[in-house]
Amino acid sequence: MTPRHFLKDDDLTPGEQAEVLALAADLKRTRHTAGAPMPLAGPRAVAVIFDKPSTRTRVSFSVGIAELGGYPLVIDAASSQLGRGEPIEDTTRVLDRQAAAIVWRTFGQDRIEAMAAVSRVPVVNALTDEYHPCQILADLQTVIERRGQLSGLTLTYLGDGANNMAHSYLLGGATAGMHVRIGSPESFQPAPAVLKRAAEIAAETGGSVLWTADAQAAADGTDVLATDTWVSMGQEGEYEARIAPFRPYAVDDDALARAAADAVVLHCLPAYRGKEIAASVIDGPQSAVWDEAENRLHAQKGLLTWLLERA
Ligand code: CP
Ligand code: NVA
Repeated sequence: MTPRHFLKDDDLTPGEQAEVLALAADLKRTRHTAGAPMPLAGPRAVAVIFDKPSTRTRVSFSVGIAELGGYPLVIDAASSQLGRGEPIEDTTRVLDRQAAAIVWRTFGQDRIEAMAAVSRVPVVNALTDEYHPCQILADLQTVIERRGQLSGLTLTYLGDGANNMAHSYLLGGATAGMHVRIGSPESFQPAPAVLKRAAEIAAETGGSVLWTADAQAAADGTDVLATDTWVSMGQEGEYEARIAPFRPYAVDDDALARAAADAVVLHCLPAYRGKEIAASVIDGPQSAVWDEAENRLHAQKGLLTWLLERA
């Protein structure tokens, strides 16, 4: 049987996304209770491979796989043959005979698609240049906790509209029936294909999507105010050139004042205070970033349980 993969946010239908988020909430509630589900009991191994650095993703998958009764096999690509150029397909065929699932943080989306094309076990995107769908599941769980719903809420993301977080907010937020606004410089707009796909999904879910260069209009009255680094992993060489264009899109006290009075502030972390987000905002009372980081654990446990047992 062909396994289900989670390579980008719209690999889950709206109904499936809601199921995963409900499972995540249950797993959070029952985390330390007897009888919590253990779909990886055995233990079965899950390979978690990193082509890029990570703190939250590494920790949350490792802890989550262990809590599901499994064994996290964390591999730094640089110390594996994958890092020396072994074909992705060959590595996958070795892993899928021994692991129950493969989680991969890598560069181009084409790489994880190549893995999924041959894998006999679920493949999960732990961040690519284009998408960060596990992060968005955690973000959506956090918003549900704070607001009790997703559908109909407005989520504004300010900053690099062309990066993985912007793309995943568009697809994942539209899937949840949210009104997603991306405020970014003209030269850092979301990929047109992603905007188009998100608009198609929103037309079905009752949400909407908007890109604008007007940061103030984007933040106006929003329920959720999110941002991300202006310099993603792999872009370090462009650091100086990238900072200036993004300054008007900082999530600072002015941006927060434009949002709804009880707006929830999100940031996937790591954060750069004084750049994309002011210290007063990320460390202030409306910030949900620590719950958001913890929810990586619960959301990914929900996702793995769903992929292994319910899909
Ligand atoms: N948010 C996130 O994915 O963090 P890490 O890069 O530390 O995994
Ligand atoms: N856009 C960031 C997200 C980090 C979790 C990056 O890709 O580096």
